[in-house]
Amino acid sequence: MNLNSSNKTIKIGDIFTPTQWGEFAIKEFCIFDDWLKGATVFDPTMGEGHLLEALILYGLKKNYTVSRLPTHNLFGNEINSKYHQTSIAKFKDQFGLNMSNNFTNEDILKLKPQQYDIILGNPPWQNFVDLPITYKEDVKDYFIRYDLVENKKDLLLGGSRIDIAALVIQVSIHNFLKDNGNSFFFMPLSLLLNDGANQHFRKYKIDSTVFAPKKIFDFNSTKVFKNVSTRYGLVHFKKNESPEFPLSYFRLENEKWTSYFAYPAFNKTDPLSISKEKEVDSLKNFSPIVINKESTPRQGINTCGANSVFFFDHKEDISEDNCLLNGKFELPNRFVYPLLTSKNFKENGLIPYKWVLLPYRKDGKPLEQMEIDQYPTLKNYLLSHKEALEKRKGTMISSWINKGYWWVMLGVGPYNFFPYKIVWEAYGKKTFNPIIVSNKWQANQSLQAFIPLKDMTEAETVIHQLKNPLIENYLLSLKMEGTMNWAQPGKIKKFIKFREPSLTLFG
Ligand SMILES: C[S@@+](CC[C@H](N)C(=O)[O-])C[C@H]1O[C@@H](n2cnc3c(N)ncnc32)[C@H](O)[C@@H]1O
Repeated sequence: MNLNSSNKTIKIGDIFTPTQWGEFAIKEFCIFDDWLKGATVFDPTMGEGHLLEALILYGLKKNYTVSRLPTHNLFGNEINSKYHQTSIAKFKDQFGLNMSNNFTNEDILKLKPQQYDIILGNPPWQNFVDLPITYKEDVKDYFIRYDLVENKKDLLLGGSRIDIAALVIQVSIHNFLKDNGNSFFFMPLSLLLNDGANQHFRKYKIDSTVFAPKKIFDFNSTKVFKNVSTRYGLVHFKKNESPEFPLSYFRLENEKWTSYFAYPAFNKTDPLSISKEKEVDSLKNFSPIVINKESTPRQGINTCGANSVFFFDHKEDISEDNCLLNGKFELPNRFVYPLLTSKNFKENGLIPYKWVLLPYRKDGKPLEQMEIDQYPTLKNYLLSHKEALEKRKGTMISSWINKGYWWVMLGVGPYNFFPYKIVWEAYGKKTFNPIIVSNKWQANQSLQAFIPLKDMTEAETVIHQLKNPLIENYLLSLKMEGTMNWAQPGKIKKFIKFREPSLTLFG
């Protein structure tokens, strides 16, 4: 696991904590008092040293002089040489301190382990998939070694949504925190509150070392970090303790900290639910919605950035077989489907406002070239966009393109053509309103999610169960209303149990 030295100019998640928020952490967790009593404090990814600086500023405000503060017990590390030098210069200029023996300039993943009493940090926040390509290669093995990978194959192909913040926190606690030590991190709350890749972090375990989240401050809409749209907070983790739920959860609402309880609703690694109640018993008693595996909830069609090729705002039938899309493209009717829009969830009666071209067979497989050739208008339309479609990026779409199927989309399979779909708005909403639509209707990317079903009676039973107010309450408890993560399929899956496939007996 060699990291190359050119990484010293790398910039990953270089957004620094304003010192007043550093002071907030110091005050809330009594870090200053412990430091005065002799505790060593380490920032593993220190940037320009704002958090350590905040400790000194906090002391000065309490009328200590710099010389009376135990500055020799402040330690930090930073990967980027420029930021490292800036921090050394700053401590010299501002406080007259020579910190060159205390501040190292290394990748924290590679730095020789050492034990500190307290970690006060703010790791880089970035999904693995968005890391610089060369650095991705360097850190892959660490994600695997620290057991943070949702899907090893996905990671090896470069496409995991696990956040490097999870890795840096785990490495920091494992390699740099004393047994039973306390660590405090400003961090993306997705590690605690989102489904998906970050679930692995919520094992709260590194090899045989456990660690426990103890207290969470959710900054909610307060702009602690400029130009950051993800949800973030400040979290206390203690080493060598197993998590005990509920946790204390404080949320900054209208400039006041409101107190909640946080706990995983079903399984230990589930995203934390946030509630005024200590425990939502009723959820534990919820009887699961039983469906077949083929009806797994899923997101809508994903054009991988080619909406302008596949989606249309206007359709006119010009014959039984053909239609005119957007007033200019003649295409075979059989491949054009109504696409759900937000309006459809507000109105009674379904009127199409958008359409999607699906060059697919009813078994969910993309048309073969030979089949496309049978429809000259379709062939010409696709050919006129061939270049743009072939340029689409992403591991999964590229693998189709490389096999010659440059007209495919993601999220299309037999389920798109099941007779019924229960569809709901999964993105940016505050209410959970599933509706039943017939097979022609298609769901749009992550905006909508659906359960495909083959039988109307089953669809009516399932929608009735989905409308149980407990489900909407659970979604609200995740505090994701209004975000892209409102009611994505993973959240609804928690309420579902798959029917055992029936066995065929022979003999
Ligand atoms: C979010 S900033 C926080 C900096 C500082 N802790 C603060 O709160 O102001 C994260 C810092 O981590 C640094 N960094 C990123 N990856 C790192 C790594 N693998 N090892 C050490 N530092 C790293 C970045 O250069 C950046 O300065």
